[in-house]
Amino acid sequence: MRQPIIAGNWKMHKTSSEAHQLVSQLKSLITTSSVEVVVCPPFTALAEAVKAANQSKILVGAQNMFWEEKGAYTGEISGPMLKELGCTYVIIGHSERRQYFGETDATVNKKVMAAYQNGILPIVCVGETLADREEKKTMEVVGQQVREGLKGLDADQVKKLVIAYEPVWAIGTGQTATASDAQEVIAFIREILREMYGDVVQNTRIQYGGSVKPGNISELMAQPDIDGALVGGASLEANSFAAIVNYNKE
Ligand code: 13P
Repeated sequence: MRQPIIAGNWKMHKTSSEAHQLVSQLKSLITTSSVEVVVCPPFTALAEAVKAANQSKILVGAQNMFWEEKGAYTGEISGPMLKELGCTYVIIGHSERRQYFGETDATVNKKVMAAYQNGILPIVCVGETLADREEKKTMEVVGQQVREGLKGLDADQVKKLVIAYEPVWAIGTGQTATASDAQEVIAFIREILREMYGDVVQNTRIQYGGSVKPGNISELMAQPDIDGALVGGASLEANSFAAIVNYNKE
């Protein structure tokens, strides 16, 4: 049985004090014990989020990291820095980073390796653009992102891995993939992983992301291969994120 994992990607929102407040509110609103809950604030708010999450089940993740441990890389943040702060997870290869900051499958792969080397679990994002989907290239594009991004992992690492399938056209648009479309691509991702790694992929958790809201989470989570969600906009407000996390209690 895979434990569901629901993570909030706050993107470039919330100062330290706002992060403290949001995590404190979530602590009292989250009542489910069956879901692993992660919040991913910006770098500057990580320490405060970790402090606020103390003595709760909320885990903290970063939104990116560089693959080198230290050196002359102005503006970058490394694995040891995140580990010492108390980060359990790190989002790697979000489509916004691929689109605006030149991330490629090759850089994603380096970052994924570096995350494991530092004892941080990666949440690796994949997903097709609207043009890819219209040209019926979804499986080809997502397949390549998975194969290239995860190249060289061993079975033990794959077991602990989290993948987020986020169709780019569904991010921040209010347009969610239908639960069955999301299921289809996520089942395909698991199939590719199985080809690469064998049955160990039964343990790998694959999330859906893209306009997840309290109103559509239950239907998504009812799909056999969807193991959680990566939530953007709806994770910025305590009541809506808590309602998503508590989806099975309604
Ligand atoms: P939205 O939930 O705002 O569509 O964002 C999804 C996302 O990009 C999470 O990483």
